[in-house]
Order: sequence, then structure tokens, then C-alpha cells
Amino acid sequence: MCAFNRLDSGELAVDGLPLSQIAAAYDSPLYVYSGAGIRDAYRDFAAAIAPVNGKVHFAMKANSALGVLALLAHEGAGADIVSGGELSRALAAGISASDIVFSGVGKSKAEIEQALAANIGQINAESPAEVAMISAVAKSMGVVAPVALRVNVDVNAKTHAKISTGQRDTKFGISTDQNEAADLYRVMAADPHITPSGLAVHIGSQLRDMAPFETAYTALLDLGMALRADGLEVPVLDLGGGVGVDYDHATPTDFTAYGEMVTRIFNKSDFKFGFEPGRAIVANNGVLLTKVIFIKDGDNKRFVIVDAAMNDLLRPTLYEAHHSIVPVLPAGSDIGLADIVGPVCETGDYIGRGRMMPALASDDLLAVLSAGAYGAVMASAYNTRPPAGEVLVLDGAIHELRAKRTVESYLAEESIPEF
Ligand code: LLP
Repeated sequence: MCAFNRLDSGELAVDGLPLSQIAAAYDSPLYVYSGAGIRDAYRDFAAAIAPVNGKVHFAMKANSALGVLALLAHEGAGADIVSGGELSRALAAGISASDIVFSGVGKSKAEIEQALAANIGQINAESPAEVAMISAVAKSMGVVAPVALRVNVDVNAKTHAKISTGQRDTKFGISTDQNEAADLYRVMAADPHITPSGLAVHIGSQLRDMAPFETAYTALLDLGMALRADGLEVPVLDLGGGVGVDYDHATPTDFTAYGEMVTRIFNKSDFKFGFEPGRAIVANNGVLLTKVIFIKDGDNKRFVIVDAAMNDLLRPTLYEAHHSIVPVLPAGSDIGLADIVGPVCETGDYIGRGRMMPALASDDLLAVLSAGAYGAVMASAYNTRPPAGEVLVLDGAIHELRAKRTVESYLAEESIPEF
């Protein structure tokens, strides 16, 4: 069931709570998440991959609010992190270090030290230089680092270029061509400061087609089997994230096809499996509430100017991403096309373009759907606009996860030199 539904009155609600009631209690704009929706998505994903021996590490780059992480941790999720900052967040949310996987192409020495000191479960290395650095840090700390190797199997994920990571010309993973990956895995296995944890792959995000996953996973399995045949320990195959969502209808993701594909490829093997879903757990379980400031009729276009902007939700500007935008209260029939734009001084600052909208007026409340993933986490204070706060609705109660930031807090971080 969708987390955001219309009540009999016609008003949009989250888990039965009218969104206008939530909007009235907080500053605008505001991210609103459905705890029930996030929990259901996590449970659906876990059920779909249950036939294989797997562990889910939520890719917290998609939504790293402590309250969301704690909810998922309570459901049994670990975390996939990409920075020392995310490590601190995951630990603060109560996720145990052994359930954390550290991904990313450029981890610093300080971040590796932080991860090893915390006793992290797995570091996914992506280059010979990184493996050497991890080994040196582990040696200096007198520990043995658990390292998996992220491979690049040269698969086109057929998604937006900026979120496609599986091809040879991207910066991610170590090539499986010419045996580079296998050779580096042998180097890791021979290193007394490294325990090889296995292999990892992540070919991109927002994949709606299963075929690229299947190609990548089959290549990963082949490499894992080949290394095992050479007598090497390959305990884990980390299958990354990437399952896409329906941004047109904001419906819950059906993980059946993904689960069946994973089961078909892997259920006869005795690897352990890691999964790193991000978007599919949270995207359609969050909305961005925003208020109309002005309606402006241009020469040949109508602009609905709202109080959320690219600093709150960057996806439309950065990826031409489509998010459905709907009035929260029942509105009349559509009267024509409009661009829904923010107040930031850039032409690229829009939330939606060419949308059929009803008649709207100042202070009308709109909901930008599918904003639970890569929304609040990508916000900035551009134009000195403190980004929107975040609330979670759980079991009928509203929890403020983070208040809208204040201009004062930003100014307090800065200093002026003496002249
Ligand atoms: N694992 C790794 C190593 C990743 O790089 C990513 C996402 C994930 C897991 C999670 O992928 P997901 O299940 O969320 O597709 N900001 C972009 C998305 C960037 C994704 C980056 N990596 C957007 O708003 O579409």
C-alpha cells in the first residue's frame, strides 16, 4: 500500500495523518517520511532475497537521518557507508560496526583508521593504491583489516549517466579485464594485515531493468568461483544496490523480480551475500511539503513559485529527475501547464516543468512525491537558504528528526578576519 494516500475528504495524508496538519506545526518546506512505508519496504526487500544467505546494508547516502537509520537498524539492517561522517552517523544510530560496509573510491587514511578502530565489518577497496594504504594502516594499528574488492565488470546499467557506475570509463571498481581484479585479490590474500572478505559490485542506481544486474552478478559469481578454484577464501559476494523505483506513480517497489533473479543466479552456491539498497527503501516513503509563494503569469508560461528550491531538492536540477507534484488539499480540475520553480536565482532552479496543475493561490500546500531518497541528504544552504527540516510519522505520532536549519546557526560557524 502507498504510504501517502488521499483521505475521504480528498486531502493527502501519511499513514492516515493529514499532511496539512503536519505542515501547520513546522516550518515550510518540510520533508515528511512514513515510518510504516520504510519498514514495509525494508521487510519486502528482505523477504525477496530471503532464499539466499544475505545481509542487507542500507545505503545510507540515500537518507541518513538518524531516526530513519535507527528505524531500519531495529528491523535488522546494517549500513553501507561512504565516509567517516556516515560511519559516525551509523554508529550514533545504533548500528553495530560489524554490520557496516565501507564503500567509495577515495577513502582517506584518517577514514580507514576510524573504520579499523571501530572494528568495521567490511571495507570495499577499489584500487591497488587503496589496498596498500589499508594494509599499511592496519599494520600500524596492529590489526587485520577485512577487505572486499569492488570490481568493475564493464556493464551498462542503462540508467542516467550521472548515476551509472558499472562501465570501464567510470572511476569505480577494479577492472576484471586482463586479470587485474584477480591479481589484486591474490595480493590481498597474501597480505598478513588483510583478511580477504570477498568481492563487491555496484553498477548504478535507479535500474528498472533486471538484465544489467544479471550480467554483472553472473560475472561476479564466475570470478568468485575462479578465485575459490585457486584455493582462495571468498566468503562474501556483495551485490550492491541500484533497484529503481516508480517516480511517476510513487508506488511501493515490487522486489519480486529482483529476488527471483538473485535466487536463480546464486541459490546453488554457498557464498554469503551482501545487499546495499538505498533508494528503493526510502524514495517513495517521503514527500517534500512546500507552499506556494506567488503565481506568476509569464508571456507564454505560468510559473508556480514555491518555497522549496534546488537547495532543498537538487534532483530535478542535477539529473532532470521527474518528481510528481500534487496539491495536498483537494483542488479543482487542471487549468493548464505550469513550471513549479523555487526562489533561487538560477534558471535551473525548478522542481517540475510543464506540469498540468489546477488553479493555485499563495499559501497553497503542494507535496513533491518520491522525495525520501537523495532529497534532504543532498540539500545545501545555497543562497543562504537553510534547508528544510525532516519529520517521521510512525505509529500515528510525528517525530521531528531534524529542525529546519537557521540562518543564525550558519552565521555562527563563520568568522571574519581582522582588517
Ligand atoms: N552501493 C553503492 C556502492 C553505491 O554507490 C550506491 C549509490 C548504492 C549502494 C545505493 O544505490 P541505490 O539502491 O540507492 O540505487 N544521487 C543520485 C543517486 C546516487 C547513487 C550513488 N550510489 C540520485 O539522486 O538519483
